[in-house]
Amino acid sequence: LLDRPRDHGPARFAARHLPMKKRLGILLSGRGSNFEAIANNIDTGRLEAEIAVVISNRPEARGLEIARQRGLNAVCIPSKGLDREVYDRMVVAELRKHQVDLVCLAGFMRLLSAYFVREFNMAILNIHPGLLPSFPGLDAQHQALEHGVKVSGCTVHFVDEYLDHGPIIVQHAVPVLEDDTVETLAARILVEEHQAYTEAIRIVLSGTWRLEGRRVIIES
Ligand code: GRF
Repeated sequence: LLDRPRDHGPARFAARHLPMKKRLGILLSGRGSNFEAIANNIDTGRLEAEIAVVISNRPEARGLEIARQRGLNAVCIPSKGLDREVYDRMVVAELRKHQVDLVCLAGFMRLLSAYFVREFNMAILNIHPGLLPSFPGLDAQHQALEHGVKVSGCTVHFVDEYLDHGPIIVQHAVPVLEDDTVETLAARILVEEHQAYTEAIRIVLSGTWRLEGRRVIIES
């Protein structure tokens, strides 16, 4: 009995039939720290997914360089001078080529067209450095300080065709301190962003949520 060759049949069968990891497409325009946090969480097993492609509209984006260094598919599709939908069709084609299931905007400085939003219906996420619906758009941390709020934070939400507008999945709050500058507040928020994005991706990929009006109800 001991001499019998080990039977690898069932194990091989199981390996072949493991559920496919969901494939993320990351869109960024700059630094890419949120992308890096997601990639790190995948590498350490905190997030079950894989990054299929990283796309930037800016060739000089640091995030693109980091993606290349990590051996990921890194693609630059420059947006300068292109009509919004023409550009979005190119990006969607690239995402399809890499069989992306979920699109994650991570500092992608462009509004998406209705076409893009329809193509990836409820499958596009964005992160914003403020507690939406307060302070949408650029310089959210500056807006928060100027307004004098005592609490700020970050929001991960589904993307629709309006700016920083779709249903909210996760929010993390941070205090605004008396001696905060835009830089210190942004840094405190960024720490939370790096956790909140992974949490939101995990929720969305698990499928244990439903939409009631604008509310994303997470089923436990
Ligand atoms: C983050 O503050 C994010 O909330 C906002 O753009 C910034 C991108 O930073 N949408 P990074 O490129 O991920 O470091």
